[in-house]
Parts: sequence; C-alpha cells; structure tokens
Amino acid sequence: MSLVRVGDIRLQVAERGQGQPLLLVHGYPLDHAMWRGQLDGLAETCRLIAPDLRGFGASDVTPGTATMAQMADDLAGLLDALKISEPVVLCGLSMGGYVAWQFALKYRRRLAKLILCDTRAIADTPEAAAGRLKTAERVLAEGAAVAAEALVPKLFAPATFSEQPQIVEATRQVILRTSPEGIAAALRGMSERPDVTARLPQIDVPALVLCGQHDGISPPQEMRQFAAQMPQARFLEIAGAGHMAPLEQPAAVNAAIREFVRS
Ligand code: MLT
Repeated sequence: MSLVRVGDIRLQVAERGQGQPLLLVHGYPLDHAMWRGQLDGLAETCRLIAPDLRGFGASDVTPGTATMAQMADDLAGLLDALKISEPVVLCGLSMGGYVAWQFALKYRRRLAKLILCDTRAIADTPEAAAGRLKTAERVLAEGAAVAAEALVPKLFAPATFSEQPQIVEATRQVILRTSPEGIAAALRGMSERPDVTARLPQIDVPALVLCGQHDGISPPQEMRQFAAQMPQARFLEIAGAGHMAPLEQPAAVNAAIREFVRS
C-alpha cells in the first residue's frame, strides 16, 4: 500500500502485478479491499491499481461535495503520479461505475477498455437525490453506522449472507471505519450525478458489463439495456451474486475479466 499525492490530496493505493494496467474503482461507501479477490486472482494477468477514492479508506477526506467528475479527475491525476501514460482498462463497481462514465467521457484517450460492474447509467430521481441528502445529514450527526445499516442488507445475494458471512461482516467493518464527512461528500456527489444514457453511444471502447444475478440496486435487466446502447459492450450475468459480484463470486468475475483483457 502507498499514499500517492494527487493535486492537493493523498490517495491510498494498493498495487499488484505487472503488464496491462487495470484500474479498480470501488463502490460506496467502501474502499480498495472490496477488490481482494481480483488483487489476489488477477496479478498474473495485469498490473492492478486499486485506490481508495477521496473520502474513503485511508485517502484524504474533503468536506462538501465529491462529484463523480472530481473523482474521475483524481484517477487521471493518480495515473500521472504513477507515470502510467498507456491506456488503461478501467473497472468500476456501482459508484465506481458512475466515476468510470465520467472518466470515459473526459479521458477517452487514456482508456483501452471499460468494465462496468453492478452500476447504473441513469441519474437519481428527485426523491432518491433528496433521500441521499437526508442520509448525508444523518451520517454527519449519528456516524457511519447509519450508512452501514441502510446498505449492507441490500449489497449481497441471499446465499452470500448464509454461506459467506465473513464477507458481509468485513464489508460492514469497512463502512463503520469510513469517515462520515467522506460518506456525506460522496452522497452529495452521487445525488447530482448526470444521466449518461444519451451519451452511451459515444462510449465506444470495448466494454464488459457485469451484473450479479440478484443485484437489486442495479438489476440485470437495467444493465442489459444500457449495455445494448453501447457500441462495443458485452453483458454478462454473474450467477449467485448480488450487488457485490466481484467480492461474492471472484472466480467467475476474474475469469470474465481475464478473457476480456486478453481479447
Ligand atoms: C454503491 O454500491 O456504490 C452504491 O450502491 C451506489 C449508489 O448508492 O447509487
């Protein structure tokens, strides 16, 4: 693990392996540890770079609003700091996918391929956005447990809760350790993220769209539909997974990523 200066903040980054850079961008309100199955399983295929986004893990926290565009700029700055100028494969889960859309639209030439896991192209409804702002205030007043209680029950497939309880508990612990200011800033940023649906035809890099079979936050049907609007995307459902497919079913996800990166 290292702390890398990017502009006026420091980002913690886990790095493994060599070769084609694969940038792994975590979801809300998590950190790089959600990619443990990929850090362990793909290091022989790629150079893996798994940062903690601003406000999360051991990265610096900036109060206010952390927009998806700001986080995409952070990733470009991180690649500069790591002296990676070749195009990367960018893999984002959920909020990491919202960041990936912004990166793809702004830094097209830095992108070789795109992997979108358990994410959405649409913006929040006004009700959902208002709910996020309320949650942000509650997290600031009462702590990160508010976010853990709201989210953990929705993150995993039913079988994951019964058969892999250690994953569920580790995820809860990551959320409980997360800065309330960081959580609130990301909630505000997600609440104002743009709808990218109309821009999907412009995202013309080879893309792999992965969705857990039981994902109730970004359901397979919705992801299949947005993949169909991207010029070079392939959709794949991951059996036995919920919203955290790479963490719940790492063997299936790694096999799909390995094949896609090498193709
Ligand atoms: C995530 O996993 O990053 C969140 O579920 C995204 C969201 O709240 O929209």
